Amino acid sequence: MTSGPGFEYDVDLPLIVAALRAEGLAAEAVAWDADSVAWDGFDLVVIRSTWDYVTRLDEFLTWADTTSAHTRLLNPAPMVRWSSDKRYLLELAGHGVPVVPTRILEPGDQCAEADFAQSADVVVKPTVSAGARDTARYEPGQAAAAVRHARMLLDQGRAVLIQPYLSLVEEGERALVFVRGVFSHALRKGPLLTEPGVMDNFRVPHPDLTPYRPTEAELRTASAALAAIPSSQTPLFARVDLALDENREPVVMELELIEPNLFLDTNPRGLGLLVDAVAAEAGLRAA
Ligand SMILES: Nc1ncnc2c1ncn2[C@@H]1O[C@H](COP(=O)(O)OP(=O)(O)O)[C@@H](O)[C@H]1O
Ligand SMILES: [Mg+2]
Repeated sequence: MTSGPGFEYDVDLPLIVAALRAEGLAAEAVAWDADSVAWDGFDLVVIRSTWDYVTRLDEFLTWADTTSAHTRLLNPAPMVRWSSDKRYLLELAGHGVPVVPTRILEPGDQCAEADFAQSADVVVKPTVSAGARDTARYEPGQAAAAVRHARMLLDQGRAVLIQPYLSLVEEGERALVFVRGVFSHALRKGPLLTEPGVMDNFRVPHPDLTPYRPTEAELRTASAALAAIPSSQTPLFARVDLALDENREPVVMELELIEPNLFLDTNPRGLGLLVDAVAAEAGLRAA
């Protein structure tokens, strides 16, 4: 399951489709919002690069619910709904999972420069986003701009996350990929918010990717995040993005259960795990 931008930019998808076909499965890449798709004609529908959902969230979540009524959708629609809004970070924290310290402003809340009166940089971003859209970092002297940014989002009816800027992302954020709960591979990626005070919706979403071997602590934190997903099902795929806090402890930046890049082009192990998992979920192979 993909989208217009997905057909253009998703490097995982052609590999997945080809690998499934090589296994004898009838795999097809279809845009989630394509006209008159008979979803009940598929044994399994796997969400991959539905990257245009961010600005059409209600429509997308309704599509996920409706499609689930006709076929098996993975990840499951309730998990997709939960993962679409970064307010889940507070829920994870409530389960004892280390997350980026996060404050939330809801539409209707007041927001003033006093909210940004700290001595270090701060990040303002919407609770629903991807690819660092509408996201920026502000230095202590830029509180007025931070307020304008937050108010703009609140005025659009969007909830806002306020976080300290974790400067160790400049050494690299970690992206850990799991297939059916099993750790597959990890990458390190460069920082996105390199210029304070700048909102840029055309950033390269995963700059400077390099293979990465996670530490035990990182694997523990990522596994704790997966264990805290409010579902009895294990996600078919998950990507846990971790940053390091000022004590170099890993904290969850994002738990991606909808349409993460899985970086399978450089990780054949991940591709193999996913193909096996999809075949099993489609009922075509023993689980
Ligand atoms: N608190 C933060 N500290 C440092 N960098 C951040 C912070 N929040 C976001 N970023 C940067 O912005 C990017 C996008 O933010 P993220 O929370 O992952 O949202 P999304 O990827 O859904 O847009 C991150 O990969 C990171 O580079
Ligand atoms: Mg991210």
